[in-house]
Amino acid sequence: MNIDLVKQKAGIIGESEGINQVLEMVAQVASVDISVLINGESGTGKELVSKALHLGSKRASSDLVIVNCGAIPEGIIESELFGHKKGAYTDASDSRKGYFETANKGTIFLDEIGDMPIETQVKVLRVLESGEFMRVGDSITKKTDVRVLAATNKDLGKLVREGKFRQDLYYRLKTVTINIPPLRHRKNDIRLLVDRFALQFSRSNNIKYKGFTPESIKEMHNYHWPGNVRELRNFVESILILQKGERITAEMVSNQLAGDILDYNQSNDSLPVVVNRDPDQAERELILRQLLFLRQDIEDLKLMMKESSFSDLNSSRSINQSFDSTIHNNEIINQDDNLIKGEAIGAFNTKDLEKEMIIRTLEHFNNNRRASAKSLDMSERTLYRKINDYGIEKKIKKDN
Ligand SMILES: Nc1ncnc2c1ncn2[C@@H]1O[C@H](COP(=O)(O)OP(=O)(O)OP(=O)(O)O)[C@@H](O)[C@H]1O
Ligand SMILES: [Mg+2]
Repeated sequence: MNIDLVKQKAGIIGESEGINQVLEMVAQVASVDISVLINGESGTGKELVSKALHLGSKRASSDLVIVNCGAIPEGIIESELFGHKKGAYTDASDSRKGYFETANKGTIFLDEIGDMPIETQVKVLRVLESGEFMRVGDSITKKTDVRVLAATNKDLGKLVREGKFRQDLYYRLKTVTINIPPLRHRKNDIRLLVDRFALQFSRSNNIKYKGFTPESIKEMHNYHWPGNVRELRNFVESILILQKGERITAEMVSNQLAGDILDYNQSNDSLPVVVNRDPDQAERELILRQLLFLRQDIEDLKLMMKESSFSDLNSSRSINQSFDSTIHNNEIINQDDNLIKGEAIGAFNTKDLEKEMIIRTLEHFNNNRRASAKSLDMSERTLYRKINDYGIEKKIKKDN
């Protein structure tokens, strides 16, 4: 396998020296049936690399079972990994397969292996060495044929010195280690990643995308990206939502990053996550924002459909034309005889409307009240009263 194939198979983006070294290593070891330890900060692409290793192996047609060791409560982790026998617990009414059995013939990815309880580690070592394991509560040894990939963002060597990680398992795992450098050490990849994420996101959400200026990319080089590629992806997606349809400038980027850094500094959490929320929470928030955004789009679409069917009735426009009008949003607004855009209905009342109308008419006529009153079709006295009532006076700048 060469690195282009690795990139293509797993959708890994990058051309920096750092990512190329990772990819070369993946290309070398993917097809060899040995365990691999993947090291890297949060969001650097450890899971992506595990997929690349699996897809590049003879096991590709079988399953890749991903287990987040840090997320499973200590009390049930062994039964999750190795399964249990009926009656092993009071509530174990059935026998159950564990992940090591499910992954038979395939690959198991033990994510956050540094969080695995030390008693469980010895059992994992046994599977690694002989493929043997026992279901919880069982006395029969079973065999499984799995390749083990493991990942951590912790310093396993340090955990070993602190007595929190078994040395034998550590040595066994670290023979082949892939270190993924943090994004701040491979800034050349930022442009490619931004392009890809922006295109994907704008396409799947139907957002107009006008690109990022070269200066805006440079601005991103100045930031240290503690949440790495995941943070960059979230960043690109949020800026596209916030600056809907605009070309992204350096200023937009620095403003948004300033907000993120502020959040990050306010966090007293030492974990390398973006802001004072964990990556999962940040993703949930992003999804929520996307949903909100989608809802807005649906409203827009409904409106466009309504408007275009109206105009179809009123003027006998051809199907092609009416299809066209759903594309050019701005055009439809002027197609009916209304002065107020449909979307704006419900957002204000007659007072707001009258106030704005008076202010803008006065501005238009350079604060000439007689001309304004005439244009507004009200008496000058009425206009004076309304100017007072609405407190408009202060707002109108006099030219002289
Ligand atoms: N080189 C890359 N090319 C394309 N996408 C990437 C790359 N690296 C990471 N990503 C994307 O960034 C996100 C985070 O990647 P991934 O989940 O693999 O990181 P991780 O190291 O496992 O993070 P964590 O330690 O938080 O579990 C994913 O959406 C992934 O697709
Ligand atoms: Mg991960």
